[in-house]
Amino acid sequence: PIPVIIDCDTGVDDALALLFAVRHPGIDLRAVTCVAGNTDVDGVVRNTLTVLEQAGAPDIPVGRGAERPLIEPARSARHVHGADGMGDLGLPAPTRTPADVDAVTLLRREILASPRPVTLIPTAPLTNIALLLRTHPEVTRNIERIVFMGGAVATGNATAVAEFNVWHDPEAAAVLLTAGVPITMYGLDVFTQVVVPGADVHRLRASTEPGTRLAGELLAHRPAHQGEAPEAEEAGGLGDAGAVCTVVDPAGITSRLLPVEVALAPGPTRGQTIVDRRPRPGESEIHQGVRQQPLVDVALEVDVDRFVKLYLETVER
Ligand code: BDR
Ligand code: CA
Repeated sequence: PIPVIIDCDTGVDDALALLFAVRHPGIDLRAVTCVAGNTDVDGVVRNTLTVLEQAGAPDIPVGRGAERPLIEPARSARHVHGADGMGDLGLPAPTRTPADVDAVTLLRREILASPRPVTLIPTAPLTNIALLLRTHPEVTRNIERIVFMGGAVATGNATAVAEFNVWHDPEAAAVLLTAGVPITMYGLDVFTQVVVPGADVHRLRASTEPGTRLAGELLAHRPAHQGEAPEAEEAGGLGDAGAVCTVVDPAGITSRLLPVEVALAPGPTRGQTIVDRRPRPGESEIHQGVRQQPLVDVALEVDVDRFVKLYLETVER
């Protein structure tokens, strides 16, 4: 199996990603680290520990990470993910506490201890990852690649042009993109497409197995103002879980190596990922002697049926 560490802000769809990673035989989930994003970091830690317990993986080390972005003040996305950051599903409190080392220390330890290079999957603001890369740059020698959920080629969600994870901590995202390791960007363009049909979600919700049932509840989650969905409308997006699908089944996406830059200036573009899709990207800038942006493997299309099938087969195991 592929050694994997997920850095998340659980989070409805981060929870879907964790359930999938725990159950997929091709993944060896070595640690999970938490960062402020969908909710405050202590809420993220609580949600993450609970989801791992429900998934039958109570021994995976969980690290508590950054409370706020590198530069910006802390802020909350409660309006999207409920007061607990996970849809207010009324899940039980976890029965354990996180690791006694912080997320960055845990990341360093697990990356360097892995017998094979680790694939990192950040599904949250990139604060922990930026701190890791700056504090312990030696980790890159044992990182296979980083597949992150974040950014957008086209439309944003946090703003008209910026995706939430990058918008929340743009400086951290800029550090990631210049890390010098292979990076895949699983952005909003593909993220929003992968939706599980209502009938499948209904079946998962009816399962007697706690992890499978939780996946169903998370997929069916509707923000409070949208009310309870009838069966046909239980359809739900895989969200962050699609980034984990990409790691075990890279052929599920169509991608291209393209220059990507994060807009850092204050104002309406802050947090935008500028993806250069020109036929010969960066050519004129190189002629002008302007620094070329690092190339990122950008997901442009996704085989929706393939990822839905992969997800369902895995969580119903
Ligand atoms: C991202 O933001 C979060 O709310 C989701 O968990 C996902 O990681 C989408 O923009
Ligand atoms: Ca997330």
